Amino acid sequence: MSEDIQKICKVLTLNSIASVGLKRLPANIFQISSDISDPDVILVRSHNMHDMDIPVSVIAIGRAGAGTNNIPVNQMSARGIPVFNTPGANANAVKELVLAGMLMASRNLIPALRFVEALEGDDQSFHLQVEAGKKQFSGLELPGRTLGVIGLGKIGRPVADAAIKLGMKVLGYDPKITIDSAWSLSAEVQRANQIEDLVRRSNFISLHVPLNESTRHLINGPLISHMQKNTILLNFSRNAIVDEDAVLAGIKSGIIKNYVCDFPDQKLKQQPAVITLPHLGASTHEAEENCAMMIADQIMDYIAHGNISYT
Ligand code: MLT
Repeated sequence: MSEDIQKICKVLTLNSIASVGLKRLPANIFQISSDISDPDVILVRSHNMHDMDIPVSVIAIGRAGAGTNNIPVNQMSARGIPVFNTPGANANAVKELVLAGMLMASRNLIPALRFVEALEGDDQSFHLQVEAGKKQFSGLELPGRTLGVIGLGKIGRPVADAAIKLGMKVLGYDPKITIDSAWSLSAEVQRANQIEDLVRRSNFISLHVPLNESTRHLINGPLISHMQKNTILLNFSRNAIVDEDAVLAGIKSGIIKNYVCDFPDQKLKQQPAVITLPHLGASTHEAEENCAMMIADQIMDYIAHGNISYT
């Protein structure tokens, strides 16, 4: 690393990384390369690295995003390869999409859009059909409703704050967070000590925990049985946090009105009550640039100075 700095450091990008970030890597130290045989550094977004042979030349991996579940982090640690990520850099983008997801579901926007798209006939019959059909899409408003936020980290906290500003009541649950740091967020966010208590009291539930062994299928059949009828469940975190079969059963029984998730899923996309998005949470110009800059700065700091900074 720092002593080898004379050597050019080859950076392989497995996904497209915003150029504003790549430009922060000085050309006298870094060379952006598509050569997969002997990179020194790998930069990645969502590419799945679990099935990949990670070359022995690699000395650092940078994930331009928060989650590192697409990278075999334990294996890399055993090889002494640090894995950097960019928590918070795309939080605003994800928060905005969560709000959009709540509104899509609460105002029945997706079926309403499909309804209009499917209408045929001349102008007059079109408008008659619109008038006759629109009643079925009557929705509900957010103020006074309760949002339960599971996970009060860099995304969960801004989601909770935004919901408070929209006039919602917010319950937060996060077993990992200390009382002091948790309640640095808006004082109006109430604390739920048990996840069952949160789901029982919420009209909307939004998931903001990372995927790991303790959160896999966190939302399962027994937990869903504690939910209110017509709950809107939002998952902008990771697919496997939810047991999909249990969610489908919850939809069938009327407990879950809508499941809004930011993952393309063949089975779920057939379901009218499910809104599946193609993992768009972090896909804004601003978030892509923020992640690229943050990851480039960390890689630079590590390669040039040997520093490992945690954000
Ligand atoms: C994240 O973990 O921050 C997102 O998955 C980022 C992305 O979509 O690239």
